[in-house]
This record gives sequence, structure tokens and C-alpha cells, in this order.
Amino acid sequence: MARMDPHSYFDEEQPRTKSLRLRWDVDFQARRISGEVLLALHEPSQGFMDLDTKGLDIRSVTADGHPVPYELDDPDPILGQRLRLTLPPGTREVTLAYATTAQATALQWLLPEQTAGKRHPFMFSQCQPHHARTLIPLQDSPRVRVSYTAEVTIPEDLTAVMSAGSAGVRPGPGPRSKTFLFDMPQPIPSYLIALAVGDLEGRDLSPRSRIWAEPATVGKAAWEFAGIEDMIVTAEALFGPYEWERYDMLVLPPSFPYGGMENPRLTFLTPTLLAGDRSLVNVVVHELAHSWTGNLVTNATMNDFWLNEGFTVWAERRTLEALHGKGRAAMAWAIGKTGLDDAFSRFGAKSPYTRLKTDLWGVDPDAMYSEVPYEKGARLVALFEQAAGREDFDRFLREYIARFRFTSITSEEFLAFLDEKRPGLAEKVDAKAWIYGEGLPANCPVFHSPELEALQALSTGWKSGQRPPENAAQAWSPEETLVYLQGLPRPLPQADCAWLDSAFSLTGRTSYEILVEWLTIAAASDYEPSFARVREVLTTVGRMKYLRPLYGALGATPRTRTLAREIFAEARPGYHALSARVAEECMAAYPKGD
Ligand code: BES
Ligand code: ZN
Repeated sequence: MARMDPHSYFDEEQPRTKSLRLRWDVDFQARRISGEVLLALHEPSQGFMDLDTKGLDIRSVTADGHPVPYELDDPDPILGQRLRLTLPPGTREVTLAYATTAQATALQWLLPEQTAGKRHPFMFSQCQPHHARTLIPLQDSPRVRVSYTAEVTIPEDLTAVMSAGSAGVRPGPGPRSKTFLFDMPQPIPSYLIALAVGDLEGRDLSPRSRIWAEPATVGKAAWEFAGIEDMIVTAEALFGPYEWERYDMLVLPPSFPYGGMENPRLTFLTPTLLAGDRSLVNVVVHELAHSWTGNLVTNATMNDFWLNEGFTVWAERRTLEALHGKGRAAMAWAIGKTGLDDAFSRFGAKSPYTRLKTDLWGVDPDAMYSEVPYEKGARLVALFEQAAGREDFDRFLREYIARFRFTSITSEEFLAFLDEKRPGLAEKVDAKAWIYGEGLPANCPVFHSPELEALQALSTGWKSGQRPPENAAQAWSPEETLVYLQGLPRPLPQADCAWLDSAFSLTGRTSYEILVEWLTIAAASDYEPSFARVREVLTTVGRMKYLRPLYGALGATPRTRTLAREIFAEARPGYHALSARVAEECMAAYPKGD
């Protein structure tokens, strides 16, 4: 047996899937996708083939048209159920008829009132890291790359989009239905398979980029992300040609649990990015950068997740610097450092979860999601860049991408390639201590900017009575305001909260980064005038990055704890399963007794 992935039953010695053909019927009433998947194998094969499934209703399995024996194991809480097929000699393809169930953690089904338009239902998938198996029975490990085609039948008044090229629309088999066709010719890891269905409108932003959103939001979204072609051109100059033909984006309803998800050809985005001032486009730059680091060169398993996210955060900041200058990039590094410090204090600086290379056998990767692979990882890449010199490291990065494009690799494979191409570089920065050790090594790069240091000094001076200059609310950029707020002590006295709120008009902000930072201070300070806004945010937005600090801060006093529980009860039906879990985890950490 050769299982290499802690989160998959995929066995390296067994037949391997080359491509998928999906035929789906999306049933909003039943909240179910039913249909079939055809798994085409790399070569004629026989014997055991173990697939990942979780909460799927498997109806039949055939190999080249003939029924094959199969066995569904008892469920493991993290992995789900192993589906073992026994393939007769010469098997080229396997077809499974199946349906999803209510346990499909990859899917969220929304009622019309949870959308911007309030008239049509919506559904979307989120497969990373290990949820594709709740949508499709397959080898759900990033080492297995597949191309795919799909035929998706949906109600005729809605639109389906996927992480694939569009291959047309035709009338559906039943009344009032339509079938959307898709083709993803490049091999991708299963976690990048994605589908969304809703009342969607597309607007072209450039010849290769279109924004999709509900009609009520598409105009705002088109404005916010109008700079996309510049971002693509800038990233191509840094990392090499964009290999995916199109870069479309989809703005989801507010319950989407992440800021963005790099589904190839169709990045998924939270509507909380629509700040109206283009200040949050770094998330788009990040998802775009995954087109190279992540989607071309992919982590072999979640133990090497830093190869995806660390490189991508570094690439995001290099792209931001090229687009908007060193100052903006330095701000982004500073904002990231706050997140890293929070993660270290959550786990403890000596925790194994502060390593880049993790050991997640028996561990749910969603439960361990943190800033560590992102911000510690990006700092290691920046250290390589500083030690090699920018020009040379940029050349190395393009060699790395060219060498490993369309493959999935481990940290060790990366290190071996680094040693081969830049001998001595890894030792010079003590890369092994970074990758296999805990905490943040002493040679961690620090990103200086005079503006940044002035802001940080000002917020640390709050306690000794320092206040921002009169015109700060108008003069500061959104990033500057955020850095300042992040540096403030908490809890703050009521009068200080009132002063801040009025000086910066914080409660009325529509840019979520600033709003949530403020509401976190306010919640931690038991500041009642902000409670209504806290409730509004927590009952509409499912982005986990905001739920964690807000529910966390509401742990401050008996009154805020009661508020948190009350808000959660109201918000729970609208939350994605992942968001609900984050909120529950935060509340479980509250002191007992009220
Ligand atoms: N791929 C991640 C999101 C993800 C990671 C989903 C792990 C499921 C499991 C995406 O690229 C991401 O990192 N999103 C960030 C954006 C940020 C770092 C700019 C987010 O959602 O906050
Ligand atoms: Zn990412």
C-alpha cells in the first residue's frame, strides 16, 4: 500500500485517473446534485482502485460498461468513506452514478433572501482542501491531476459557471431547464474543481477577463476590478506567461467563507471586497498569483501547503509593489505580520503548527488553517530573494515554475531543486530551520517604511495620550488607517471608543477590513453603540477571516458573550458549514459560567 496523502485514500500504486466527464443535474428543491462521473484512466488497468467519497449516495459503478464490485468502508470523520473498486483487466474507464447529500460540505445552497437580488436561489462549491469528495467520488489528492468536461443541467432562469472554459449552452432534457457545457483541458488537482449556479451576469473587463456577479452587484464589481488586465500583464512579466487562457472572476453572495479562491479560469471572490475604492484588490492579485504558484506548481499534500500560500503571498506583494510601489507592499507586509503574530499566539510559538512543513496525519486541515503557511512562508521566500538578489531569484522562480508546471510537489522536491539550481542558498538562510522548525527564525526579514513606523509609533502612543492628526481621517489611505487601528491597545475605555468612532466615522464604514478591525476593538471594549453594526456584519457575512476576530472579541464580557450567542442563533441558518464551525470554536473558548 502506498498512501502518501494524509487526507486521501489515493494509493500511488493503483490505477490513476487522467480525466473526468461530469454529467450533473442541479436540483435546488432537493438541494442535491445527481448524475454521473466517468473517470478515464491513464492506461488500461486492473485490480483495486480506492476512491475518496464523503456523504455520497453511490448508485452504480461500471467499468467500460459492465458492473464492477465495490465496497464502501465505514466513515472516517476527516477522510470520509473509502470506496474500493475491483477493476477487471483492461479497464479504461469507470462510471459512477451518484448523488450528493446534505453532508456535502463542498456545497452551500442559498435561499433567495441570502443573495443580492433576493429573487433567485444560489449555490456554490468550495472544494479546497478535501471537500471535492463530497461532490464527486474521485481520487481526491493534489498528486492526481485531471482534466475535465462537464454537462450541467440547471433551471432555465439561472446561469452555471465552472473553473473551466465555456463550451456552450443547450436546451435541457426536461422542461424549463438548460444544460451548460464546460471543458477544462489542463490537468488540475481535484480541489480546483468548482461550480456556481445563480442569477449571474457577466461583464467583459478585457479580452481575456470577465467579471461575473448578480445583476445587482455586477456594475460595482466591474468598477472595483477594472484594473485586472494590468494585474495580469504585471504578473506575467514577473512569473512567466499566463497559461490558463482566460482569467474570469465570480463575486459570490456574502456567506462565501473565504476572501478568494483561486479556481482556475474563474477566481471566486467574497463581495466584501467591493469597498468602492479598489483598496482590497490585493486579494484578486493573490488569487491571480496562484495561477503560477498553486495552480501550475501545486502542493503535493496539505503538509506542503506553504508551497502554495507562502509563494503566493510573496508573489502577491511583488505584483503589488510593481503596480503601486514599495510603500504599498510594505504596508501589506506589516498587515500580514499582525496576522502572523495572532496565529503564533493562538497556537503558541513552540507549537508544531508553526512549522512550514506540517504533519497533518489524523488532523483536519480546515481546523488548522492559519496565517503561518502564508506569512511565515512568504517571509522565507523573501529571504531567498534577498540572499540571492532580486534579479537572480526572479530568474530562479521562472525556472522553478517552468520545471514543475502542471505537477504537484513536496517541500523536499522544492529543496532538491533549489540545491541543484542555486547551490548553497538554502544553507545560507538556514531554510531547514524555517521549514522544519517552529516559530520565526531570527533572520526573518523586516520590511521598513518610514510611514509605517510613524503609524505604528502613533498607535502605541495611544495609552500615553497621543492622538492622530486632525486631518487623518481624510488624509490616510485605507491601508494606513488599518495599520493604525491594528496597533491600538484593546480594550479601550468607552470615551476612547466614542472618540475614535467619531473621528474616523468607523461604524459607518463600508470597507470591511477597516470596519471589522474597528468592530473588533469595539466588541472587545464592550462598546454598545457598535453592537447593531456587529450584529449586521455577523448575520450577513460568512468570511471566516472576519468571524474569528469578531466572535473572539465578543468573548470579553458577560454582556458581549450573551450578544455573541444571540447573534449566532440568528445567523447560523445562513452560515456555510465552515463559518458555523469557526464561530462555535470561538464561543467554546469563552470563559465558562454565563
Ligand atoms: N486557496 C486559498 C483559500 C483556501 C485555503 C481555501 C485553504 C480552503 C483551504 C486562497 O488563495 C486564499 O488564500 N485566500 C485568502 C486571500 C488572502 C490571503 C489575500 C482569503 O480567503 O482570505
Ligand atoms: Zn491563497
